[in-house]
Amino acid sequence: MIDLVLPDKTHDESRQGEALLLEPVDGKNAGRKLYIESYGCAMNFSDSEIVASILSEQGFETTGDFNSADVVFINTCSIRENAETRVRNRLKEFKTAKSKNPGMVVGVLGCMAERLKAKFLEEEKLVDVVVGPDAYRDLPNLIDQVDSGQKAVNVLLSREETYADINPVRLNSNGINAFVSIMRGCDNMCSFCVVPFTRGRERSRDPFSIVKESTDLFNAGYREVTLLGQNVDSYKWASEDETEKVNFANLLEMVALINPDLRVRFSTSHPKDITDEVLYTMAKHDNICKYIHLPVQSGNSRVLELMNRTYDREWYINRIDAIRRIMPECAISTDVITGFCSETDEEHKETVSMMEYVKYDFAYMFMYSERPGTLAAKRYADDIPEPVKAARLTEIVALQQQHSHQRLQAQIGKVQRVLIEGFSKKSKNDYAGRTDQNAMMVFPVDERYKPGQYVNVMAERCTTATLMGRIIPQTP
Ligand code: SAH
Ligand code: SF4
Ligand code: F3S
Repeated sequence: MIDLVLPDKTHDESRQGEALLLEPVDGKNAGRKLYIESYGCAMNFSDSEIVASILSEQGFETTGDFNSADVVFINTCSIRENAETRVRNRLKEFKTAKSKNPGMVVGVLGCMAERLKAKFLEEEKLVDVVVGPDAYRDLPNLIDQVDSGQKAVNVLLSREETYADINPVRLNSNGINAFVSIMRGCDNMCSFCVVPFTRGRERSRDPFSIVKESTDLFNAGYREVTLLGQNVDSYKWASEDETEKVNFANLLEMVALINPDLRVRFSTSHPKDITDEVLYTMAKHDNICKYIHLPVQSGNSRVLELMNRTYDREWYINRIDAIRRIMPECAISTDVITGFCSETDEEHKETVSMMEYVKYDFAYMFMYSERPGTLAAKRYADDIPEPVKAARLTEIVALQQQHSHQRLQAQIGKVQRVLIEGFSKKSKNDYAGRTDQNAMMVFPVDERYKPGQYVNVMAERCTTATLMGRIIPQTP
C-alpha cells in the first residue's frame, strides 16, 4: 500500500502512533500513569486530548513509556483494513508488557472500538475496556469497573455529545498549532466509508464554545487553529429559539475575527457542500489560510455515483473553477481511491485527467479497501484485482509527485508569509513553518525571530515536498 505522505498536519501519517504526554495533576487517581497512543485522522488526535483532559481531572499523569503505565489506551482507526492491522500488531506488543505487569489496564478507544464493540474482548484477550468515541465521559467509571475485576464496554453513540465544555489538554504540543473540533459524526453515507458507523450522526458544536476555545488558545500563545470536522461545510448551529443561526462561513468569520495574528485552517471540505459564501469569506480575511482539502475520490461520474458522493465530475470541476476564480492563489489538495468496485481503465483515466485539470498541490491516495458493513460491501463486488488497484495507484502517485513539485516550483522567487513552527527536523540551524498555502518552508534560523512569529520568507529552492528559502527582514 503506497500512501503519499505530504506535509499536512491534519493527515500527517508520521504522527501515527505517537504517544502523548500530559503534565502531572493531583486527584483521586493521583500518581496513576496513563499512556495514550493515537492512530487515524486529526479527529482522533483531538479526541485523545479530550480523553487526557477527562482523566487528568481524575489525577492521572501521562507517561511516554507504556511499560511503566497503569492504563494503556490505543485510540484506533478503521478507515482501511491496514489501519486495523496496525492496531492489532501494536496490541501484540502491549501483551508482553501486560504479562510483566498483570494489573495494567489495556483499553481500545475510537473507531475500531465502535466497529467491533464487545467482540474485541473475545478476539483480543488482553483488552480490558472498549470505549467508543461518544463515551469518553464514562471513562472514569469504566476504569473503576476494570479495577474491580470486570471487563468494561461503552460504545453508545450520541446525537448530542460534542464535548463542547471540555477544555482539551494540549498533548505534545508545540504551543503554536492546535486542532479545534467543530462537529462530530457524518451523515453522508459514502458507500466505501465506515465513518458514519463508527462516529454516528453528524452534530455541530456550539459556535461560542469554539470561539472561546480558539480565543483561549490565542491568549496562551497559539497562532494557528485548524477547525476539524468530517464535512465542515455542513456545519450548522441554531440557538434554541432559532433566532441565531450559524453556518460554516459565519463560523469561519467569527474565528478569523478573534485576532489577525491567529491563522485559521479547516478540514475537510465536501465538494457537494462547499459554497461560494465560504470562498468569499476566505478571500475576505487574510488570516484564513488559502488552502482547501477537497477530496474528489474519483474523476468519473459513474464511479462517483456508486460511491454515493452525490456530485459528479462537472459539479466538482465547477467548484474548482469557483475556487480559482475567487482565490487564484488558493492551494487545493485531495483524496483519491483507486480500484473502487467495477472501476474500468477508462474510468480510472478520468481520475488521471481530473488530476491533470486541477494540478493538486497535495494528494492522499489509497487503494480501495472493502470495509464490513458499508453500503459498498453490501451492494457491490470488490472485483478489481489487487495488482490493478496497485498499478493505478502507482500511476497517480507518480503523477501527483510531478504536480506537487511543479506547484512548489511556481513559488520560487516569491516572498511568502510563514508562521515559524519550530526547528526543522533535520537541523537546529533551520526553522520550519508553513506558508499560507500549507507548503512546508525551511529556512536558516535568524535569532531576531522566534517560533510563533510570522516572517516573510523568499522561496529559493524546493524538493518534491518542501520549499527552502531565506528570511526577508520586514522594513519598519
Ligand atoms: N470526510 C472526509 C474523508 C475522511 S476519510 C471526506 O469526505 O472527504 C479520509 C479518506 O480515506 C477519504 O477521503 C477516502 O479517500 C479514504 N477512504 C475512506 N474509506 C476508504 C476505503 N474503504 N478504502 C480506501 N480509502 C478509503
Ligand atoms: Fe466518510 Fe463520506 Fe463522511 Fe467523508 S463524507 S467521513 S468519506 S461518509
Ligand atoms: Fe479513522 Fe475514525 Fe478518523 S475511522 S479516519 S479515526 S474518523
